[in-house]
Amino acid sequence: MKIAIGSDHGGFELKKYLIETLVAQGHNIDDFGTDSLKSVDYPVFALEVGKSVAENAHDRGILICGTGVGISIAANKIKGVRCALVSDCFTAKATRLHNDSNVLALGGRVIGKGLALEIIDIWLRTEFEGGRHQRRVDLISSIENTYKNGR
Ligand code: RB5
Repeated sequence: MKIAIGSDHGGFELKKYLIETLVAQGHNIDDFGTDSLKSVDYPVFALEVGKSVAENAHDRGILICGTGVGISIAANKIKGVRCALVSDCFTAKATRLHNDSNVLALGGRVIGKGLALEIIDIWLRTEFEGGRHQRRVDLISSIENTYKNGR
């Protein structure tokens, strides 16, 4: 599985730790930045990672900002991205089973490194359940198609 990861300055330290750990575990990770603690704008990284997942260049994306909120809002503007902001293990599993989320957002100032790793592990391993949930995901796609011009 190819994973794209990106963060702003608020998620930089967690991103650095996650890349080191996930690569050591054998995961295939591409880092889309940022590359320091210097203040940057989170939508830039949401766009790069989200686009790559929407275009199938990567199977999944992980985005981190201070809270995870801004970067998840931005990612969800991209057609085909289903970004879930997660800070607990139950939601990590449920959002794969039910929402087929393809991008995970984390709050670098909200959760610790251990919990972030556990969330990612569950989120990467859990398969979409399909069935009635496929219908709901399809309805999300139809909203994207209908309201693409804001109407
Ligand atoms: C940056 O200070 C902060 O606003 C950002 O990381 C994020 O929390 C936004 O939602």
